[in-house]
Amino acid sequence: MIAAVRGTHDILPGEVEKWQTVERVAHTLCERYGYVEVRTPVLEREELFAKGTGETTDIVQKEMYSFTDKGGERVTLRPEATPSMVRAYVEHSLEHALPSSKLYSMGPMFRYERPQKGRYRQFHQLDVEVFGMNDPAVDAEVIDLAWSLLAELRIARTELVINSVGHAECRPRFQAALLEALGQDVKKLCQDCQRRAVTNPLRIYDCKVPADQPIIDALPHSVDYLCDACATHFAAVRAHLDAWGIPWRLSHRLVRGLDYYTRTTFEILGEALGAQNALLGGGRYDGLVKNLGGPDRTGIGFAAGLERLVLALPEGATGAPMARAFVAVVGDEARTEGLRLLRELRQAGMAASMEFEGRSIKAQMKRADRLGSRATLIVGADELAKGEVTLRDMRGSEQRAVPRADAVRLTRAILEGQ
Ligand code: HAM
Repeated sequence: MIAAVRGTHDILPGEVEKWQTVERVAHTLCERYGYVEVRTPVLEREELFAKGTGETTDIVQKEMYSFTDKGGERVTLRPEATPSMVRAYVEHSLEHALPSSKLYSMGPMFRYERPQKGRYRQFHQLDVEVFGMNDPAVDAEVIDLAWSLLAELRIARTELVINSVGHAECRPRFQAALLEALGQDVKKLCQDCQRRAVTNPLRIYDCKVPADQPIIDALPHSVDYLCDACATHFAAVRAHLDAWGIPWRLSHRLVRGLDYYTRTTFEILGEALGAQNALLGGGRYDGLVKNLGGPDRTGIGFAAGLERLVLALPEGATGAPMARAFVAVVGDEARTEGLRLLRELRQAGMAASMEFEGRSIKAQMKRADRLGSRATLIVGADELAKGEVTLRDMRGSEQRAVPRADAVRLTRAILEGQ
């Protein structure tokens, strides 16, 4: 047997219904909020992420599935959607081609991480991005969409955490203060943090090593170093959230593991997940579009991990499966009539099955039961001769002969519970 690759997984019946629920709610909600869907390739040029996600991030340094293809080109299985969405936005001049630059996408991402509950090497994201809109109400609207997604999925016990990391002008001041406060203590931190102190000091806030935490907790807070414009923007975002009754907590540690963020950052944490507790995360990235060769347009968005949403879904969230009909036949002639009936039921919009192996009527009824059929239509020599069908309501086990011409209509009545 050849097993699936470590960190990847099959989504089987029983679970796939939950995925369908999550995907359906995501599509509906994005549409309601004015987003249009875009589907980008799984494969991109490696440089898109080196430049977009950032050279100093864990993703680019340790986690990318990159290889040289047969034509000698360096390509990468996308580890996140944001750089791809920016590329598509720039490449197709979507700001002119579309009436509004609010885009969303869903699909698989790849990161070579250590697999555990809620963390995989192939996982799926709903990704939402807004380009060229600077108003703090847009930040709040994006957060509201994320919040409403979880509410609509009835995922309870969630917490919204927010922060502001400033922009290109106030960030260096914060970074300098951070390094100064760290001083000689940097030598007491883990190897990764010592490297981060040189390459990208903000990443130190992401550290999970227990021994490092007291030192990191005492470091300065980005919100204390914001310029007036960034501080005003962040205050307005919080005011909008308050006005809409969306509860939030300020988290100084929320600098996020990607390089492109400016101003607002946010995550929604869920209790169901244990250590991997971020259901979704995102923020503003005002320099990224320009950095990737596009016009000087701001950006903001978030991505939700679909595996994590599925894990956090409450019991019974998927609803009842579609009611089914079953056609049972006795004899070859009846079989031809049964196949015709089966097709008629499906053409009329009903879910219907039949047994093709020529088994006994008893075996066919057993199968109808296993499939959870609500109605069974039985056709044998008798029925054929009389132009009838025997229709059985599987719940009450009542059955009666009905005219062939009425069979489809009466089956529908049973499936619809009348
Ligand atoms: P991220 O925080 O790296 O952000 O990922 C977003 C979400 O994807 C996480 O909160 C988590 O639910 C899910 N996720 C990440 N890695 C894994 C994994 N290995 N296994 C399962 N789920 C995972 C981004 O990707 C940004 N592109 C978000 C964004 C969009 N920012 C602005 N626009």
